Amino acid sequence: MIIVGGSSSRDLAKELAAALGCAHVQAATTRFPDGECYTRIDHKELNDDVVIVQNTYPDGNLIEMFLLQDAVKRLGAKTITLVIPYFGYARQDRVFKTGEPESARVMTKHLGLVCDRIITVDIHKEAVLDYFDCPHEDLKAAGVIADYFKDKEIDLVVSPDVGAIDRARSVAEKLGAESDHLKKTRISGSEVRMEPADTDCKGKSVLIVDDMISTGGTIIAAAQALREAGATRVYVACTHGVFVNNAIERLTGSSLDTLLCCNTLENEVSHISVAPIIASALSR
Ligand code: R5P
Repeated sequence: MIIVGGSSSRDLAKELAAALGCAHVQAATTRFPDGECYTRIDHKELNDDVVIVQNTYPDGNLIEMFLLQDAVKRLGAKTITLVIPYFGYARQDRVFKTGEPESARVMTKHLGLVCDRIITVDIHKEAVLDYFDCPHEDLKAAGVIADYFKDKEIDLVVSPDVGAIDRARSVAEKLGAESDHLKKTRISGSEVRMEPADTDCKGKSVLIVDDMISTGGTIIAAAQALREAGATRVYVACTHGVFVNNAIERLTGSSLDTLLCCNTLENEVSHISVAPIIASALSR
């Protein structure tokens, strides 16, 4: 097996290759002055099972993925597996208003044209998985998040809304902690209102888990609600740290104590690695 790293996932690709004891190749990607993507894999052939590790967000990374798929095919890849740690466009899994595209389906169709298998991590809406024509697997980061916090004496794990309670429950079970959910109402794109959890938070170390943080509005409101309910420590961990604009700055200046995310998107707080779960899926 050969692991090819795209520009979005350099460290993760390296870590995966080390975990699997297989060859690692980093694609050299640059941009032309007009912004178009140029990429090259500096090898004569890739006559093996090839795994491309690359996000499809933001849009530039999606284009790079298409180009890498073509490049590895031309280099003779026997099979092509796409590891997409953060799969973009998963929010628009259907047409909500007439005239809209079914964005997630567009992405799955096009990515599926040149590959044999797709691996994603905590895809935002699982319904999107049904759009893949090839074998696919969505891995859950709850286990690596729980592992990271096993020595932190967490009393309670909460999700910011009822829809994400399964993730919080799964992390809590692994930590031997309680779980609950907050009640979130979205007011605008960046503003949310949060009602406290039913569980008593007084004097507790609480861990908030979510699949993604974008503007940070959800987590800032959640941390504030938990503090007001008497939590002594508020940790935050998400799978995908999208962090638009100055979200990390806003979050670190808010009511939470510690902010962490997985390395599906590589940034200054992505210290929880998903390499073990991806490596185990690839070796299956
Ligand atoms: C919602 O369904 C997601 O799980 C996140 O809670 C949400 O996308 C976070 O967005 P933001 O950081 O902008 O509040």
